[in-house]
Amino acid sequence: MLAAVYPGSFDPITNGHLDIIKRSCRCFDKLYVAVFENQAKEPLFTVEERVSMISEECQDLPNVEVTSSRGLLVDFARVNGIQVLVKGLRAVSDFDYEFKMALMNKKLAPEIETVFMMTSLQYLYLSSSLVKEVAVYGGCVKSLVPPRVERKLVSKLHKSV
Ligand code: PNS
Repeated sequence: MLAAVYPGSFDPITNGHLDIIKRSCRCFDKLYVAVFENQAKEPLFTVEERVSMISEECQDLPNVEVTSSRGLLVDFARVNGIQVLVKGLRAVSDFDYEFKMALMNKKLAPEIETVFMMTSLQYLYLSSSLVKEVAVYGGCVKSLVPPRVERKLVSKLHKSV
């Protein structure tokens, strides 16, 4: 069985993330979508909220399991018998960061491969950070995130104002 994990902060999940999930789950027998803490980022949503939002959007994808984890991604992969790490690549700006992480993960776990999936053209500019910035200032994020996520985003930002 070929299993993969698509890790990320998903704070919150965007249509770009969902595009990568839908396309990559067709390439593997099983795809884990795993919410990790990113040490460099202060999250808006709790891990539980993020897992719940992703789960709602993935309910029609039978080979996708949504979960969360702490610690090293390669440890999560090893424990779950995962052979492949899936990463989405948007612009050249992602490349340096992703390339370094892929090499570090290879150093830590030589038996695990990183596979990069190119973003679809319409999501080239899309990131959770930009979505939050647009939403904070009252901009429309309708075509950027699923409707359920948009509602949660708006209510979270209104609550914290
Ligand atoms: O969506 P993000 O914030 O770009 O995702 C980054 C993430 C969560 C995939 C990365 O920070 C990660 O893999 N975290 C787990 C800890 C780990 O394994 N760090 C070493 C990476 S070389």
